[in-house]
Amino acid sequence: MKLQGRIAVVTGAGSGIGRAIALRLAGEGARVVVAEIDEATGEATAALIRDEGGEAHAIPTDVSRSESVADLFARLDELDMPPDVLVNNAGNASPPVPVHEMTDVMWDAKLRVHLDGTFYNTREALRRMLPRGRGVIVNITSVAALRGLPGGAAYTAAKGGIASFTKAVALEVAAAGVRVVAVAPGWIDTPILDNIPEASRAEIVGKIPLGRLGTPEEVAAVVAFLASDDAGYLTGQVISPNGGLYL
Ligand SMILES: NC(=O)c1ccc[n+]([C@@H]2O[C@H](COP(=O)([O-])OP(=O)(O)OC[C@H]3O[C@@H](n4cnc5c(N)ncnc54)[C@H](O)[C@@H]3O)[C@@H](O)[C@H]2O)c1
Repeated sequence: MKLQGRIAVVTGAGSGIGRAIALRLAGEGARVVVAEIDEATGEATAALIRDEGGEAHAIPTDVSRSESVADLFARLDELDMPPDVLVNNAGNASPPVPVHEMTDVMWDAKLRVHLDGTFYNTREALRRMLPRGRGVIVNITSVAALRGLPGGAAYTAAKGGIASFTKAVALEVAAAGVRVVAVAPGWIDTPILDNIPEASRAEIVGKIPLGRLGTPEEVAAVVAFLASDDAGYLTGQVISPNGGLYL
């Protein structure tokens, strides 16, 4: 067990990739905090971890709101659970919109959940990691940040921002013993893809060299590695499990 006793906060862990990450980190011995906007799914993930003999706390959180993230970390302080690992995973997708038709609200909403949320959580986590001289932050970006996603300019900009933010913060805190890395998944089979019509899914899969969508568990395995001491010499990088879609 690579993360025995470590405290891991996973945002958006009520579904898909975040849920798989929470389960995997718990399987590696971590004490998991599920920070999810949807109270019911967050509690369900925590219950699943507890059923399997692990420790999990579900704390309802909206990562796009600074006060909500501050409340999350204040609660962790009360529980005497300073984070060793933070996974900034919470996110969402929207139907494609060309830039010239995008409203301010659409643009803001995408940046707030992905980019602002990553900043708020990272700031709070670092305030607790830096004094202890250890910690790992894993930011979930996307292959969209590396190759672009037509119709998803706001999502792509937010994810590109996360990749760049990762590098800046990694350099800022490296000497203090904290690592910051990013994971850029390709197309992963989760509910976020539910709105994609079957024909488009087939077209997407047709372009993936490995010939299939990835699984949330395959992303979780990369995150578990990066969060562990096995990745002790890795910081500031963007690792992309994408089936060969982008090299
Ligand atoms: N599935 C893919 O193909 C894919 C590819 C690349 C990157 N990603 C990224 O992976 C992450 C997880 O996506 P997924 O595919 O598991 O989607 P998902 O919809 O299955 O899960 C996302 C979770 O985030 C939660 N969430 C949304 N807004 C939130 C907020 N403001 N505060 C807290 N929680 C919030 C949702 O309730 C949900 O439980 C996202 O950041 C997404 O952009 C996904």
